[in-house]
Amino acid sequence: MTGTKRADKRIRIAVMVSGGGTNLQALIDAEKSGVIKSGHIVLVISNNPDAFAITRAAAAGINTVTVVKKNGDQKRFEEEILKNLARAKIEMIILAGFMSILSADFVSRYPDRIVNIHPSLIPSFCGKGMYGIHVHEAALAYGVKVSGATVHYVNEIPDGGRIILQKSVRIRQDDTPESLQQRIMKQAEWDILPRAAELVSKKLMNAASQQKRSI
Ligand code: GRF
Repeated sequence: MTGTKRADKRIRIAVMVSGGGTNLQALIDAEKSGVIKSGHIVLVISNNPDAFAITRAAAAGINTVTVVKKNGDQKRFEEEILKNLARAKIEMIILAGFMSILSADFVSRYPDRIVNIHPSLIPSFCGKGMYGIHVHEAALAYGVKVSGATVHYVNEIPDGGRIILQKSVRIRQDDTPESLQQRIMKQAEWDILPRAAELVSKKLMNAASQQKRSI
């Protein structure tokens, strides 16, 4: 039985954000420039109504939804997000600075379809409590000479999924956590997240067309 033919075969992507949205901006720019051509960002979900990422999405004409966790009710929070993802027929999710834990049940709804950007070379400086500036504080405190960023699939273990892309950044003598964070964002995150988004959406698009042919 042939389903309705979908003209736009690109993978429908939702980006989940919490903050400034510079990684979201890199994704938006990458879709415009053709670095991302197998996926199409159709929805941005923020858990923070004040996130500048929402302004960035609106400026790019992308539909945005804010879902805030109420009274610590993780179940309702995730149900609301899942409802919005289903309504938008989302096929792939990118966590771009999304600062909230997602349960194993949530993640299991999108197997090998959720990717995350982490600002270190996993398995260094990741897992519980390792987010945002804390990652760079820990790297400098340890005295590593190289750090960087990682894009990985999301599974039930925080920062535990298969690694997709990594990029290293040399530490400077005079680095502060802030200067290191900025350089890793500019030189690593904003480069590998769009490239990983294209790799994964291309893989999903090819799998979908294989499946259609095999029916
Ligand atoms: C980035 O440093 C990212 O690695 C981390 O959170 C920050 C998000 O920044 N997960 P932005 O909201 O994309 O500007």
